[in-house]
Amino acid sequence: MTNVSIAPCILVIFGGTGDLTHRKLIPALYNLKHQNWLPSRFAIVAVGRRDKTDEEYRNETRNSVKKHSRFEIDDNIWNNFCRQLFYKKLDFLNIDGYDELNAFLSGIDNEFGTEGNRAYYLATAPENFETIIKNLHISKMAVNTEKPWQRIVIEKPFGSSLSSARRLNKIISGVFSERNIYRIDHYLGKEMVQSIMGVRFFNTLFEPLWSNKYIDNIQISSCETIGIENRGEYYEKTGALGDMVQNHMLQILALLAMEPPNAFNAEAIRDEKVKVLSSIKEFTSYTTACDVVLGQYSEGEVEGRKVPGYRQENKVSPDSETETFTALKIEVDNPRWKGVPFYIRTGKRLAAKRTDIVIELKPSLYISNPVDSNIPNPVFSSAPGPNLLVIRIQPREELFIQFNTKRPGILEKICPVRMTYCQKCEICQAENNSPDAYEKLIIDVINGDSTLFTRWDEVEKSWAFIEKIKALKEAGKCCFSFYKPGTWGPEESEHLLERDGRHWWNL
Ligand SMILES: NC(=O)c1ccc[n+]([C@@H]2O[C@H](COP(=O)([O-])OP(=O)(O)OC[C@H]3O[C@@H](n4cnc5c(N)ncnc54)[C@H](OP(=O)(O)O)[C@@H]3O)[C@@H](O)[C@H]2O)c1
Repeated sequence: MTNVSIAPCILVIFGGTGDLTHRKLIPALYNLKHQNWLPSRFAIVAVGRRDKTDEEYRNETRNSVKKHSRFEIDDNIWNNFCRQLFYKKLDFLNIDGYDELNAFLSGIDNEFGTEGNRAYYLATAPENFETIIKNLHISKMAVNTEKPWQRIVIEKPFGSSLSSARRLNKIISGVFSERNIYRIDHYLGKEMVQSIMGVRFFNTLFEPLWSNKYIDNIQISSCETIGIENRGEYYEKTGALGDMVQNHMLQILALLAMEPPNAFNAEAIRDEKVKVLSSIKEFTSYTTACDVVLGQYSEGEVEGRKVPGYRQENKVSPDSETETFTALKIEVDNPRWKGVPFYIRTGKRLAAKRTDIVIELKPSLYISNPVDSNIPNPVFSSAPGPNLLVIRIQPREELFIQFNTKRPGILEKICPVRMTYCQKCEICQAENNSPDAYEKLIIDVINGDSTLFTRWDEVEKSWAFIEKIKALKEAGKCCFSFYKPGTWGPEESEHLLERDGRHWWNL
């Protein structure tokens, strides 16, 4: 990863009045300004179709920053930030306005010394991506030069199937070279996801354990208590497989399972992740029935409040078969991981909100009696549990190790204890909490570091994996059941691990 020194450029946000811009992008940019990351040779141009002056836009975004920023608004910093923030009216589906936008950006280049460098951030609905890219191309705002450069940032979802992702990629790569394409998977910008490599590769404590020799299984869970909110239209197209597994869950799995890269740069790291994605064993009609659990939440109660089932949600078909829950047992078929299952679980309306990784180690050789394994060890009377390494990504960023020690007292009893590193308590409290993923991702786009963005071959491999499951689902070869809100999903998800003599760690 490169050292940070900010390149001059204009960040052009298509969808400047949208939810993502208000809740995430502008607060992240303000936080960067607050930390002095945004230099004077930088400007933000928010594009929207409504009539608005710069002043009106700045006032509206001030409210969003007030609500969503981790730093309180400081008037001095805000006023400086506003000098770099502009609003430009444009119907981005209509080519006619692009020359005027281009002239406006050139004026900003002259005023701010941004040298013609542009990062186009598509914070709009995916169906607009294609037209905007074509319009940028036709209007010669994206000409694929090195100096000045033009980069494109694409929000999730990148396609809704393998064929639509391929089609979108063909259009983008007809205009931008791969090194100028930044496909966002904002999980990769989350602090504890970024920590995975640090924990794995820079600790003698963990690095030698990282294989089937010592690891029994790995669990990756991303659970939410909310339903789909008002996103019925989007969710009907993606389901949990497209919304979570294709991108975030498989990316986390790839970071956990990859071989050490020969350099810590974007290409070397992504090469290793692709090898993992290529080594995932394909599901067959036999293994799907056993190792894939899909589910959908039914109506029920959460904290004494009645909540609708998925099929009753707004803009959802009353006989929808879209999955709001997925649990998978995945095998990475290479020498390091042979025999170690990766269990993945994600869903809506579950019992708790959390995203975490649990690495369960194999039992100690001394757990059972060294003479007769059916008799408990004679020295210590209680059976200890396995060692766990837990990386919690959200809501609290922390890492803990669960290990066994002697319980104090006369009796020789063993008990599990935890050693915890809490990021917020130890490092981030004085710094007003952990940085939001978008702060890091925006800086990386400006600096041309694509390590935390997905390369096309990663996206393609992930979609190919999801498509196989979808095809088997359509052929009726997957388990699909309903589950009550406030539970951990369908009971088949428990059976998935019980069959292997294991259980989910709901820690
Ligand atoms: N929101 C999130 O938390 C979130 C999280 C992860 C990923 N994403 C992704 O981010 C993208 C944006 O999501 P969002 O929730 O921000 O969507 P949104 O609130 O619907 O915003 C869409 C934006 O596009 C603008 N727009 C639509 N048609 C236009 C046109 N013809 N000309 C100019 N502007 C036009 C809208 O302008 P008007 O205001 O005039 O309608 C609005 O600013 C999506 O790809 C989504 O999947 C969003």
